[in-house]
Amino acid sequence: MRDNVIAICPGSFDPVTYGHLDIITRAAGMFKKLIVVVASNSSKNCCFTPEERVELIKKCITNLDNVEVVHYDGLLADYAAQVGATAIIKGLRAMSDFEYEFQMALTNRKLNNEVETVFLTTSAEYMYLSSSLVKEVARLGGDIKEFVPPCAAQDVVNKFERNDTHDR
Ligand code: PNS
Repeated sequence: MRDNVIAICPGSFDPVTYGHLDIITRAAGMFKKLIVVVASNSSKNCCFTPEERVELIKKCITNLDNVEVVHYDGLLADYAAQVGATAIIKGLRAMSDFEYEFQMALTNRKLNNEVETVFLTTSAEYMYLSSSLVKEVARLGGDIKEFVPPCAAQDVVNKFERNDTHDR
């Protein structure tokens, strides 16, 4: 991997999980700079506001000094061009992720032909993990410590205890 490349790692991160953090940590080791982009997925309703999602990620990555976390509301391909990023990092958990991710990768290449999507396979211990699962467990009062680091887990629990989910 070229060491002067700026990469972006986009996602909904609603909320961030150990699975996301595994991908972010591994990608941070591959590129000069990694920008984690909290973006909107038009097919998902998010429980956490974009600002809350950014804060939760920041709390979990204080050990990574080449990683920034931002919220961006437009097209990812435009954001990549704005910051000079030439790689988009996505994690793949299973074949079921692939079709959708493949479509997004090709669309992003059409919109910005300077940018390559790089897929990292998830670590085996996080293959099952998703933000939806975390929300379901938290909503029903279950223990999420296996899914979300302690620095963020309490905020997630509080959110569901207060029942103040953002839902859009
Ligand atoms: O974690 P997710 O929900 O799978 O991430 C999907 C996300 C947010 C990366 C995708 O929906 C996205 O890139 N949204 C930004 C708007 C955009 O560029 N849409 C076109 C994608 S090809």
